[in-house]
Amino acid sequence: MPLRRVLMLPHLVWWGARAPRGTQNRWDRYWAGVGATGDGGDVLWDSSDPAELERYLELFERFAAPARAVVDLGCGNGRFTRALSRRGWRAIGVDVSDAAIALARAETDRVGEVSSPRFLVADLAAPGALDRVREELGDANVLVRGVLHVLTAEARGQVARNIRHLLGDRGVAVIAETNHRGSLLSYLESLGAGVRGLPRPLARAIASGLPTPRPFGQDELEQTFPDEEWERVHLDDAAVIHAVPMRRRSDRAERIPGFVAVLRPRQENRPSPSAARADQEQPRIPDPRSAVGESRPVTPGQIRPT
Ligand SMILES: C[S@@+](CC[C@H](N)C(=O)[O-])C[C@H]1O[C@@H](n2cnc3c(N)ncnc32)[C@H](O)[C@@H]1O
Repeated sequence: MPLRRVLMLPHLVWWGARAPRGTQNRWDRYWAGVGATGDGGDVLWDSSDPAELERYLELFERFAAPARAVVDLGCGNGRFTRALSRRGWRAIGVDVSDAAIALARAETDRVGEVSSPRFLVADLAAPGALDRVREELGDANVLVRGVLHVLTAEARGQVARNIRHLLGDRGVAVIAETNHRGSLLSYLESLGAGVRGLPRPLARAIASGLPTPRPFGQDELEQTFPDEEWERVHLDDAAVIHAVPMRRRSDRAERIPGFVAVLRPRQENRPSPSAARADQEQPRIPDPRSAVGESRPVTPGQIRPT
């Protein structure tokens, strides 16, 4: 192991020793301790760089029926939920943490959104967690950014079943996850950890005992959303997920290797093209901004991008 990584270890041990014992409510404790969000704030993944956000908006505009709501699963402080709402989508944010949802509501009130999204507390890994949302919305679309890579394989399976239920016949899911394949130390190093210590947002995540991020790539996608049940309509396994700037004297977002996919459930009786068109005809606020990121269409049954 390179010496610089060996010298990182005492910092990791020091911050790790502060993590609460037991696994209950770690996310809630984490969110309850957040003072500031966005660049320069406490939350590692809450980058205000617009490029990534723009990309998801463009994918919804391309693949989702506008009449259908978007549910932002594991929404945290609601940055993406608000952006969807601002772009004209009926948006609902869901998170397991009461403190995250309280923060999402407070930030939404603070910016005084014209069309405010709603926020709800639910554990996505619980059976039936989204049943009430589904009853209210009918078929809906889903955004998942940076959630599956912090869940166990078992929890991911239940989340996928809940998503399947929420999507119904007409929804699509935009999935964006980090996919660092190297060692944990190399990952931490790529986020600015070094012999002199850890950037504050990273230290906070470790001291709160948040789950260690796991890679989430094609294998994990296939395990969670098996090909026989899910159609991949878009796939980018070289996507970038942004984190807040973490180097001294830098205001550049950190770039984490990631994965973006658009999925929809396979089914025999997909709505006819005319029904789909009727869905598209519902009004939505247009936005002239151009798309970011290239779509690489994937034929049914294929995982690798063409
Ligand atoms: C890495 S953060 C990403 C937040 C947000 N999607 C974003 O990109 O800004 C993961 C989020 O998932 C939430 N979360 C973790 N496990 C969850 C579960 N079982 N059900 C619902 N939310 C969960 C956490 O509270 C946290 O807000």
